[in-house]
Amino acid sequence: MDGNGRWAQQRYMPRFFGHKAGVDALVKAVNLFADRGVEYLSVFAFSSENWKRPYDEVSGLMGLVLVAVSKYITKMAADGIRIRIVGDRSRVSDRLLAAWDEAERLTADNRRLHLTVAFNYGGRWDVTQACQKAMADGVKAADLTEEVLAQYMAFHFAPDPDLFIRTGGEMRISNYMLWQSAYTELYFTECLWPDFDAVQIDRALAAFAGRDRRFGSIPAAQTLSAGD
Ligand code: IPE
Ligand code: MG
Repeated sequence: MDGNGRWAQQRYMPRFFGHKAGVDALVKAVNLFADRGVEYLSVFAFSSENWKRPYDEVSGLMGLVLVAVSKYITKMAADGIRIRIVGDRSRVSDRLLAAWDEAERLTADNRRLHLTVAFNYGGRWDVTQACQKAMADGVKAADLTEEVLAQYMAFHFAPDPDLFIRTGGEMRISNYMLWQSAYTELYFTECLWPDFDAVQIDRALAAFAGRDRRFGSIPAAQTLSAGD
């Protein structure tokens, strides 16, 4: 969800104003994706690297998450959204952890759309912590298959993503879901996150629908033998 800061700057407003608009855009986007049949949506809210931002912006973002949970949790629960938060919880304040636990608990029975919020998350962190957990469990080196390791990853409950969308014009993955996105279709748009609306969502899904996914195989027509 990139581009909040620039969206605010275009309006001669502080960056925080853009992050607030970004939360509103997210709440709308979740329902729009659910309406279109998307069952799993994950969003990159705060990366392991975002701590490098000025203190004011980091603490503003933390406060915003608290406000967002209290402002929107009832609506999201009523909308059938199940919320999970993944990431390294060690640097996160107790107040924020309590808010997340509440968000997860209140929405645990929902099934319309599984929303995963990645917070203090990094793809490399996830692979590393998965290895650490497997080793702590006593998994032998020879038994550490891709399937076994996947069970220790933060996203173990979700299928691998079909589509990756990055707003804000940057064309990189920035350490998001590295393990899980091996065969994910990538979609980049200049649109700044707060402007990511129904039209933008439909554009991204249409682009996805036009992709030819072979997962390392060859086009179906060429797998037919002469007699088929
Ligand atoms: C992304 O928007 C939101 C977060 C990382 C929380 P940015 O804050 O990166 O916005 P730009 O890229 O400066 O416009
Ligand atoms: Mg950015």
